[in-house]
Amino acid sequence: MRVVVTGGAGFIGSHLTDRLLNEGHQVGVIDDLSSGRREQVSDQARFYEVSVASEWVGRVIARERPQVIFHLAAQIDVRKSVSDPLHDAEVNVLGTVQLLGAAARAGVARVVFMSSGGAVYGDTEVVPTPESHPLRPASPYGAAKVAGEAYLTAFATSFGLEAAVLRPGNVYGPRQDPHGEAGVVAIVSSLLLAGRAPVINGDGRQTRDYVFVDDVVEAALRLLQGPLGQYNVGTCRETAVVEVVAELSRAVSELRPGGDPPPNPRHGPAKDGEQRRSCLDCSLAASRLDWRAQVALPEGLRSTVAYFADRGPGYL
Ligand SMILES: NC(=O)c1ccc[n+]([C@@H]2O[C@H](COP(=O)([O-])OP(=O)(O)OC[C@H]3O[C@@H](n4cnc5c(N)ncnc54)[C@H](O)[C@@H]3O)[C@@H](O)[C@H]2O)c1
Repeated sequence: MRVVVTGGAGFIGSHLTDRLLNEGHQVGVIDDLSSGRREQVSDQARFYEVSVASEWVGRVIARERPQVIFHLAAQIDVRKSVSDPLHDAEVNVLGTVQLLGAAARAGVARVVFMSSGGAVYGDTEVVPTPESHPLRPASPYGAAKVAGEAYLTAFATSFGLEAAVLRPGNVYGPRQDPHGEAGVVAIVSSLLLAGRAPVINGDGRQTRDYVFVDDVVEAALRLLQGPLGQYNVGTCRETAVVEVVAELSRAVSELRPGGDPPPNPRHGPAKDGEQRRSCLDCSLAASRLDWRAQVALPEGLRSTVAYFADRGPGYL
């Protein structure tokens, strides 16, 4: 199939691009490299350094004429969305509208939108949280994801596009940016490998649903043709930040037997308004897409640590 991946130079998008190419698809990547890396894009993909929020995106889609677009390009920093909600909306709302318009004009059959299971529900009454739970985003980032989903539905109705949505939990794995605010696994792995103590916000008992990037890519692949819908993509397991840090410390120690033990984490002040619990009910993806997360957390964390160790300290 002809496929376009927006955000294909980023963490999840580059893995998705690699997998699509491996499966024999033709892939065009759109990314403005605002946080992605050109070297993460396979040479087998056609690369367009273009913002999804610019009019150029229409020309790229008209040229590529994809059957399916995976829309992952986004400003992903929740804190930045709070300090500069207009910029967040420009990329995450207007960029999505611009892309959907281009898709409709070019007769694209299907758009798969990468929303966020961590951000669209806000604090929830039901844990694990099913897709039917009310959407009460607590950040402009989450609000933009809800808006993106709504625009997708509206374009599906108005232009006959097929619309599918993935709502992943906290995605982790190789290539995640350890410099941003997002991505506790990448940040803590890099710090521990560099012999620096990570700082845990508050008591570290806040929970998240950590899902390995390959599992998210597999869920996306199933939406190339699978049944449309909005799907949570997680493990249905709640893991506290302190547990993740402890597991990462073990992984670093195992990698360097006889070396200095990694430093103990420090506890800093709790973050105002931080969500206490987040865990996704993924039974819909299991029943309709026959998808289940395959990578257990200890295994995924070990391969992530190994990746950052290979890259050396210069990466931090
Ligand atoms: N990482 C997670 O835990 C997680 C969880 C839920 C949802 N998501 C969503 O998955 C998607 C990918 O996230 P990621 O973790 O790979 O982040 P990432 O920052 O690595 O990837 C985002 C990519 O989008 C590109 N981009 C940003 N603005 C753009 C623009 N205006 N035009 C074109 N490209 C642009 C960036 O350069 C980057 O390559 C995002 O939509 C994100 O909201 C991520």
